[in-house]
Amino acid sequence: MTRVTFITPDGNQVQVEDAVGSLMNVATDNDITGIDADCGGVGSCGTCHVRVRPEWLEKVGKADALEKDLLDLEENATECSRLSCQIELTDEHDGLVVEVAGR
Ligand code: FES
Repeated sequence: MTRVTFITPDGNQVQVEDAVGSLMNVATDNDITGIDADCGGVGSCGTCHVRVRPEWLEKVGKADALEKDLLDLEENATECSRLSCQIELTDEHDGLVVEVAGR
């Protein structure tokens, strides 16, 4: 069982229990504000941008070069930024907290 918390751009915290699959799919299935996922999860639109809480970055992992190229186009990106469609949740991610970047 994996519980994930999204902090939306308007400051609300939304917890999702039993999160499975990609973090982007969890977000869209739960109508998380600020995750549009326009490209459907192929990593080409940037509309699923989240900032992983720093304490989670090691377990989640940093963006690879291709992902980073896209994130570099986002004005509110940080070193903790990831495309949520590129994060596949596992049991290790139980308790994960991410901020939705929004646009
Ligand atoms: S859904 Fe388009 S980059 Fe993630």
